Amino acid sequence: MENLKIPSHVALIVDGNGRWAEKQGLPRSKGHAAGFQNIQTLTAYIFNKGVKYISAYLFSTENFKRSEKEVSFIMGLLTGKAKEILEFCKKEKIKVVFSGRKENLTSKIIETIENIEKETANFTNKTFNVCFNYGAHTEIIDATKKIVNDSLNGKLDIDLLDEQIYNKYLYQDLPPVDLLIRTSGEQRISNFMLWQCSYAEFYFPETLFPDFKEKDFDLALENYTARDRRFGGIDYAKKNH
Ligand code: IPE
Ligand code: IPE
Ligand code: MG
Repeated sequence: MENLKIPSHVALIVDGNGRWAEKQGLPRSKGHAAGFQNIQTLTAYIFNKGVKYISAYLFSTENFKRSEKEVSFIMGLLTGKAKEILEFCKKEKIKVVFSGRKENLTSKIIETIENIEKETANFTNKTFNVCFNYGAHTEIIDATKKIVNDSLNGKLDIDLLDEQIYNKYLYQDLPPVDLLIRTSGEQRISNFMLWQCSYAEFYFPETLFPDFKEKDFDLALENYTARDRRFGGIDYAKKNH
């Protein structure tokens, strides 16, 4: 397809790692490891297409309901791969930012994330938003608490609060999501970026995340290009009016 439309902000709900492993008779941990590996390759590819922001949902506030073994394996992937992730981001000039609640995360995880954020803070063209221990409800609640505090302390005139100012109180002040991709065939949002996805185009491929490769992203882009994004308006040039 020619003249592909390139979304500015792509959100990825990384799903199906466990099923990918189970299908092959492997422990779920192998699926998480394969998923993690896939994120790097896919990220480089997506940014090279001209996308400016990627938000990746890697661990939700609800994922703490899983077994201690599975949770600590996922946490360990992040800390264990920290050096590799940092080298990759520096090579590709990717700025990494974090969205999520730091409570419930170990100091090792927090240090790892903060170090990657610090070391990549000066890159400007590509931003990778790691959503880890992230929930859209907690994000909205945390933003609301900060707004109330700033209002009580006289730092914010509540009459001036609008969408733009509200956005600044979220974990990260990012542009809205244009394209949301959730792998594995599940068609739900599972508490991800409710504010930021208000006008996102949703795409739900059946592919399990470790198998979601460059050609699958190309299909997502073709699908996105064919969407008519109206934002509530009407293009009268195309109508009898
Ligand atoms: C996504 O894969 C990764 C996380 C949610 C942490 P899943 O672990 O949810 O994989 P499935 O959905 O069980 O296949
Ligand atoms: C959503 O996937 C969270 C992440 C991808 C990090 P889940 O697999 O946890 O979501 P549900 O339980 O199917 O809604
Ligand atoms: Mg899942």
